Amino acid sequence: MSVLPPGEIDHVAIAVHDLDAACERYVDLLGARIGLREEIAEQGVEVVFLHLPGETKIELVAPLDDTGALARFLEKNGEGMHHICMRVGNIEQALEGVIEAEVPNIDAAPRIGAGGARIAFLHPRALGGVLLEIKEVASD
Ligand code: CO
Repeated sequence: MSVLPPGEIDHVAIAVHDLDAACERYVDLLGARIGLREEIAEQGVEVVFLHLPGETKIELVAPLDDTGALARFLEKNGEGMHHICMRVGNIEQALEGVIEAEVPNIDAAPRIGAGGARIAFLHPRALGGVLLEIKEVASD
């Protein structure tokens, strides 16, 4: 059995400097529809979700200032892929499994992300350099 239950990708997130300019690129090139846009002050970021057919979403994430983790990421890596987000049915249960398996995590407890979703991040060491977000999505 895997540490996390096999789930769907909720979104792929791209770090950018300028949300408006990036939105324009995704609309012009991919025909994305612009959805929720939100400042998440405690994480020092502003995000916008772009919708593509089906459940496909891309999250653009830009730093609010040049002091936070995302600003450091952009300085080091430039714009590009920042994280992938997998859906889980129960985030506490998922995090329990992560902690029990000693998988390196950033959040030991869920935090509130865009749209009020309950999320947590695993450390990039857990997935060969890829930052992984898990997000609780109630199954219907
Ligand atoms: Co995300």
